[in-house]
Amino acid sequence: MADDGRSRREARILPALIGAGIAVAIAVGVLAYAAGHYGERTKTVTTQATGPGATPAPTTRVSPQVAAGAHTFVQFACAQCHGLDGRGGVDPAVPALKSVGQTLTIAQLKHIIDHGLGASANPKQPYMPVWGEVISKTQVADLVAYIRAGLPAVTGTQPVSVPAGQGAAVAGAALYVRYGCVNCHGPNGLGGVPNPLSADKTIPPLSGGDFRGEFNTDAKIAAVIRSGSVIGRAPIVSMPHWGGILSKQQIAELIAYLKTLK
Ligand code: HEC
Ligand code: HEC
Repeated sequence: MADDGRSRREARILPALIGAGIAVAIAVGVLAYAAGHYGERTKTVTTQATGPGATPAPTTRVSPQVAAGAHTFVQFACAQCHGLDGRGGVDPAVPALKSVGQTLTIAQLKHIIDHGLGASANPKQPYMPVWGEVISKTQVADLVAYIRAGLPAVTGTQPVSVPAGQGAAVAGAALYVRYGCVNCHGPNGLGGVPNPLSADKTIPPLSGGDFRGEFNTDAKIAAVIRSGSVIGRAPIVSMPHWGGILSKQQIAELIAYLKTLK
């Protein structure tokens, strides 16, 4: 990131301005689209980087499989635990993924994604969730191709933005997509995602009378989001541990959103 020459610095000013313009455009777009449009991706965005200190990422040409892997990486919230482009820095318990493409084989990577890693009966820190029943073989192969390509920046893969100043439930609805809850608990918390070897045979809904009866206080809901709930060994899918990944405020926002559901 160090600028070591005047001409290089000047060469960066224009892209930086464009980058700032894009960031503003994104912020405006997000406020305008707010709730109900979370699935849509902003078409004008050409870089991964929108945060402070970010420089416009080069538009890398990648194969369709690597591109699909990059989108899947964001959809399943891999990026929320392992960092954007697998750069790490989210939580000390979650490794960066930049070099595992060289150190692990295709078979090892597939196995880790399908079966998880590091889960224990009472996890005190995030563990690698079991994805095999939730993510298809094609999606796993795409993820592996993307990881082995070194997790390049790919256009249009920004995670859903969380609108500020529009209330906890609106923020929570965005977090529900951004952190991939929707992939396991379904749209509107309706459930129905198969978990064939678990007692219920399905990942539970986060709406309806049964859920409300069992999780009848904010504290109970917060506890299961923070600590997860390991209900069996892989290939059984368990509730991931989000303590250290989601802040107290984000968990409260998720709870506010869940309360708006049927
Ligand atoms: C809830 C947080 C979380 C999510 C979401 C998550 N991971 Fe992980 N992942 C971890 C943790 C924690 C580890 C380290 C586990 C250990 O070593 O005990 C890990 C380990 C890994 C490893 C092995 C890395 C190494 O150096 O051995 C790979 C590969 C991986 N994850 C890929 C993925 C992919 C792909 C996704 C999305 C489908 C994903 N992860 C989603 C938390 C997460
Ligand atoms: C990899 C799939 C997966 C993801 C992702 C996931 N969950 Fe879960 N979740 C589960 C499973 C499986 C259970 C059931 C655990 C049990 O029966 O003890 C569960 C249970 C829960 C429960 C308690 C409901 C119950 O009936 O046990 C809540 C609340 C919850 N999850 C919220 C969330 C939120 C919020 C997110 C996103 C931050 C999320 N989950 C992400 C799989 C997932």
